[in-house]
Amino acid sequence: MSYDIDTRCIHGLEHKNKDANNAISYPIYQTASFSHLTPGHNPSGFDYSRESNPTRNYLEETVSSLEGAYDTVAFASGMAAISAAFEYFKTGDHILCGEDLYGGVVRLIAQVCNKNGYEIEPVDTTNPAEVASRIKENTRAIYLETPSNPMMKVSDIKAIAQIAHENRALLIVDNTFMTPYLQNPIKDGADIVIHSGTKYLSGHNDTVCGFLCSSNRELAERFRLLSKTTGATLGPFESWLCLRGIKTLALRMERHISNAAAVREWLLKRTEVREVYYAGSGMISFTVDSKERAESILKNVNLIIYAESLGGTESLITYPVVQTHPDVPEETRERLGITDKLLRLSVGIESPADIIADLESAFENSRNAVIE
Ligand SMILES: Cc1ncc(COP(=O)(O)O)c(C=O)c1O
Repeated sequence: MSYDIDTRCIHGLEHKNKDANNAISYPIYQTASFSHLTPGHNPSGFDYSRESNPTRNYLEETVSSLEGAYDTVAFASGMAAISAAFEYFKTGDHILCGEDLYGGVVRLIAQVCNKNGYEIEPVDTTNPAEVASRIKENTRAIYLETPSNPMMKVSDIKAIAQIAHENRALLIVDNTFMTPYLQNPIKDGADIVIHSGTKYLSGHNDTVCGFLCSSNRELAERFRLLSKTTGATLGPFESWLCLRGIKTLALRMERHISNAAAVREWLLKRTEVREVYYAGSGMISFTVDSKERAESILKNVNLIIYAESLGGTESLITYPVVQTHPDVPEETRERLGITDKLLRLSVGIESPADIIADLESAFENSRNAVIE
């Protein structure tokens, strides 16, 4: 029997307890190594926690169940998962990448992957015809975020997957913003799904982790080899924290969405606000009328915290131009709209009235900083 996603968040793939001692909350196997009975006889199947660990395995199976993946590897961060995904390719391979991506990925491509001899080209993945026209003989993958960070641009996963597969390329989708609660890229044709599990999956701004979900055995075997060899796998305690966070993913997402809807409505009525970018989940980006206004809002929020990251219980406000996207070249930032007037809001699950009241007071206080 297949359960709804709300239930799978709580019970994993199957509604049965997988712990030998029937613990309801899966235990934290805080061990580096596992004993063997005799040479070649290892009944538990576990050797060494870099390679595999029961708590991490349980988390990985849970995420596979949510994403409809063949297999999932949990990493020490989203960037570790993304780095492992790029390790899959070889010198001479051509990779098309969305042009609006988390700044850390832009830095990875420009300052780390560059030595590998890949040809990585940005493309507007919201335009399938444009993507198709940029495919080359050696194109091996298309990499995108949808919605993108921070401009919330939406790409058509099914259409891009078809283009990728007609050209024997892989589609890699970063599903951090939507989560499997709202979007299942593998079901829409993606081959690999990435998560910064730091965000909605863990959900409490207390854990850094990442996931690489693969749709087939060949990819899974390669990523297992890469993770155990390069070694940035997730520790048992962080695995448990993320498992605990996932139990309430469905509830939290519903509240993030309804709070974001209320905040969006409020922003749309403000005369200081120029554009509001929203594509689902709890993430909203918006521009204001001046740099001074943007800086003053950041200074004057009180309940909402001026900090990087997103997807947790607490509302956070971020200045992408300074915090998440400084490594994107300035002309690209300007073209995409990542300016000093852009703010990104991760709407938390506090009372919507309190979040709006905090924005209201920050906007009112910003009047002193701006000549209106
Ligand atoms: C969309 C997206 N993908 C990946 C990452 C990287 O994840 P982490 O910070 O867990 O390494 C981030 C981080 O902000 C992100 O926003």
